[in-house]
Amino acid sequence: MLWEPGWVADYPELAGWLLQLDETQCEHLDDHPQELAVQVQTWLPGAADYGALTQIPDLQPDSGTVARITLAERDAVDMPGRKRLQAGALCAALLPIPAPALDWCCGKGHLARTLARAAGQSVTGFEWNPALVNDGNRLARRFGDPVSLRHQDVMEKNLTWPVGAHGLALHACGDLHRKLIREVIRHRSPRLSLSPCCYHLTDQASYEPLSERARQQAGNLVLSPDTIRLAVQETVTAPERVRIQTRLAKQWRLGFDGLQRELRGVDSYLPLPPHPGRLMNGDFEGFCRWAAERKSLTLPAQVDWARWEEYGAMRLHRVRRYELLRHLFRRPLELWLALDYALVLEEAGYRVRVGTFCDRALTPRNLLVDAILG
Ligand SMILES: C[S@@+](CC[C@H](N)C(=O)[O-])C[C@H]1O[C@@H](n2cnc3c(N)ncnc32)[C@H](O)[C@@H]1O
Repeated sequence: MLWEPGWVADYPELAGWLLQLDETQCEHLDDHPQELAVQVQTWLPGAADYGALTQIPDLQPDSGTVARITLAERDAVDMPGRKRLQAGALCAALLPIPAPALDWCCGKGHLARTLARAAGQSVTGFEWNPALVNDGNRLARRFGDPVSLRHQDVMEKNLTWPVGAHGLALHACGDLHRKLIREVIRHRSPRLSLSPCCYHLTDQASYEPLSERARQQAGNLVLSPDTIRLAVQETVTAPERVRIQTRLAKQWRLGFDGLQRELRGVDSYLPLPPHPGRLMNGDFEGFCRWAAERKSLTLPAQVDWARWEEYGAMRLHRVRRYELLRHLFRRPLELWLALDYALVLEEAGYRVRVGTFCDRALTPRNLLVDAILG
């Protein structure tokens, strides 16, 4: 029995339309959800609002300003190219920056060093990985940047907050960035600038809106971490080679899933742990032998590997097309979460901008919530 998402029974025509898409169309629509929204309006009239719902201001300044603020490559030691450009774009979108800043979950302080130069201000960084703190402080000393990174678990209850600091975070995950929002509000900090990431990384069983308005609007809506993960499931920046490997891994996992259901005589999914990358240089049989061992499953002497490999390809074909519809909700969901952050800050007396600070190709996590007190 082939697993189908629940909506297929209610929208058989929509399911049929998705299944007849060829590979090029499927990939194109996955990368261009606005076009997909137009196409599925026949069955889902609400999709007509997709464009309006997901259109947000572009907060990027002109390219000359971004280039001026971005660290030169020679000063960006240990800084991956994308991170250098993201840090430059974020700082450029925040100018002017009058208060000293606190870089929350700063890693090696790439953003902190960019900001210190852009703003002519000292920057403190909080980071819990001591190796990153040491490397970051060494880099700051070497380049003479007024940056000081501190070994600090930001989730610590009695955190010492630097009075009057502008809280700043580039891609701090779920609970980490939500803690920053709470700290900023609690200390009446002058400003918070946040580009959120990995909204689903949380200790909570389900998402608890921060703002009063989102709480009221959500009603009985339960957003589990697994649902929220959808907001960040995008491969738009992954190179083609990585996309192909990811697809093959999915296909093999689905092939093994069919095999294990038949061998166990149980029609249920067996979750597999992450597989070692080297397996992808081998073949489907090798992958299944690894998976069977993980699940203490004895394989018979004869297995029709070609049959199960083909089954995996067939399942992947369907899953990828059905997933298109699910993926349509990624950006609206992400915006709903970011707007919840903006609203709680507004409720606390901040003036808030929400928009994009760079193109999606540089990072799909390109939202900026920028809040100024008063
Ligand atoms: C996704 S990285 C972002 C790093 C940096 N902001 C950047 O853009 O390069 C998240 C960082 O948060 C740090 N981190 C995770 N949990 C933390 C905690 N509880 N306290 C402080 N830092 C933490 C990690 O070590 C990592 O450096």
